[in-house]
Amino acid sequence: MTTGATAAAGLEGVVATSSKICYLDGERGVLAYCGYDIHDLARSATFEEVCYLLWHRRLPTRAELGDLQSELARARLLPEPIVRMMRSLPPEHTMDAVRTLVSALAHHDPDVGDDAPPASMRKAVRLTAQVGTLVATLGRLAAGGAPMLPDPVLGHAANFLYMLRGERPSALAGRAFDVALMLHADHELNASTFAARVAAATLTDIHSAIVAGVATLKGPLHGGANAEVMKMLETIGEDADDDRVVATVRGMLARKQKVPGFGHRVYRTEDPRATHLRQMSRDLGRQANNTRWFEISQRIEAVMKAEKQIDVNVDFYSASTYHTLGIAVDLFTPIFVVSRVAGWTAHVLEQYANNRLIRPRAEYIGPEYPQTFVPIASR
Ligand code: ACO
Repeated sequence: MTTGATAAAGLEGVVATSSKICYLDGERGVLAYCGYDIHDLARSATFEEVCYLLWHRRLPTRAELGDLQSELARARLLPEPIVRMMRSLPPEHTMDAVRTLVSALAHHDPDVGDDAPPASMRKAVRLTAQVGTLVATLGRLAAGGAPMLPDPVLGHAANFLYMLRGERPSALAGRAFDVALMLHADHELNASTFAARVAAATLTDIHSAIVAGVATLKGPLHGGANAEVMKMLETIGEDADDDRVVATVRGMLARKQKVPGFGHRVYRTEDPRATHLRQMSRDLGRQANNTRWFEISQRIEAVMKAEKQIDVNVDFYSASTYHTLGIAVDLFTPIFVVSRVAGWTAHVLEQYANNRLIRPRAEYIGPEYPQTFVPIASR
């Protein structure tokens, strides 16, 4: 006995909602936010402009962008109880801390209990600002440093690096991180965005929906993959010769292990985000006088292409990029949150604006119906 339909494994190819936010063409390798090609945005926009675009579905005027920048800068300071809570959490599980602290932020939000559209929009802006501070401060504490106050003069990306490292980043590093944030800001109905939309469709509050997104992003098949890439690179080792690089990849494939940073549910060609991250990894490596991680990454990419015809995804070169920016591996997935919170909140607001409960069906493949109930005394 079944519900009459067959389940699509992993919902592959299923169109589950309509959305005006993100256009994705996996065959041609196209990614566009509200119609704007990701390559144009990566070349010319800023993360704040992309936030405005995702939330309002049009590019801001100079005045609108200025207002948003000020709003974000004002919202960067964390409530004191959140900083105390941050210090009380085990330092080694940063993504767990981010999940817990995003949830805790709801209690201290000035609009708590108000889920009307203007309040939810204000919460989206605050969450985006606060998550940057949260992740930078977690990173700073884990490295034994004292929390930094945000610098209101700096943009979102540069301020993040400043709060994390305690010094203003170079122009190249600041711009590279800004582009990285833009590239990760949205990606249609990926697993974490779907989770956030499913939560939002029950009309729960925006913080709860974003917690669902964070929890889902954490997995190694999704946002956790960038950290796995760096762990793989470190296992190979900076001084490894070519044979070792090739043998490591071939060994993983022979053991039927997934090589992190490769493959994608939608793209059948290069992930357009990877094009920028590859270049960034190379440029930052050159600036730091160490292109070794970039070269090893390139070699892994060539082996994967030759052996499996699989392309890199967004996570592959973000690993060497973040590492060269001096960011600890534990922060790689939290940094994904710093960016994707913009996309999640945009999707949650879109879901609220045209809501219907998301409640699909399952193909039943359990024991035949009806079974005869045997009382416990007779079992
Ligand atoms: N390494 C080796 N083989 C791979 C990889 C990989 N990274 N990815 C896919 N394949 C192979 C599979 O073994 C399978 O081969 P087969 O048909 O011979 O068995 C085929 O490609 C299809 O793979 P699936 O896992 O069925 O593809 P799916 O669409 O379900 O998964 C996913 C996509 C999860 C991204 C997968 O490619 C993967 O696990 N990649 C590694 C983890 C990763 O990088 N995740 C980040 C994705 S991007 C993001 O979430 C931000």
